[in-house]
Amino acid sequence: MRFWQNPASPFARKVRIVARETGLEPRIEEIATMVSPVAPNADLAAQNPLVKIPALQTDDGAVLYDSAVICEYLDTLHIGTRLFPAGKSRWDALRLQALCDGILEAAVLCRYETAVRPAELRWSGWIDGQFVKIRNGLDALAKEEPTWNRYFGIGQIGAACVLGYLDFRFPDEAWRASRPQLAAWFEMISKRPSVIATTPVA
Ligand code: BEZ
Repeated sequence: MRFWQNPASPFARKVRIVARETGLEPRIEEIATMVSPVAPNADLAAQNPLVKIPALQTDDGAVLYDSAVICEYLDTLHIGTRLFPAGKSRWDALRLQALCDGILEAAVLCRYETAVRPAELRWSGWIDGQFVKIRNGLDALAKEEPTWNRYFGIGQIGAACVLGYLDFRFPDEAWRASRPQLAAWFEMISKRPSVIATTPVA
């Protein structure tokens, strides 16, 4: 399989963690890809009309996107503990994944706004609004964390990517201060080889 990714992307990191948690990593060729709406990538554009990472080409030649679809696909290719559980817990897992994806979308938008958009075009009220989403989302994660019971499924993988991305791109955001249990959970899961191996790099 071929996988277009960027080592700074938290959405690509979800897939990279899933690949390692499921033992599929040796079957996946990771292609480091620089892409943005103002700097498209011809190789990726031929595979994904949205020209976005992450995207995965399966062994059959199909190209899958986005991270949620790729992660669920990879979860069908192994025999270990399901990262997308079946039955009633599936909806909790999918909702938690959606919560984490939403926090990440807000955080990546803030990153673009502060690091890519020319200073004279920045809109501080818009950034503030994204940070409200991020902080409310973190409060929701902190409330749910006591129910996770050491399970590391797709929702928890999303949470690891959220907290890792905030530390990476927004180190001044003191998210731990009012959420000590979530911070302790993050410290615990940060020891997993899949999390260590995918630590974001600029
Ligand atoms: C980043 O550099 O923060 C980034 C890179 C790719 C996708 C999303 C975020």
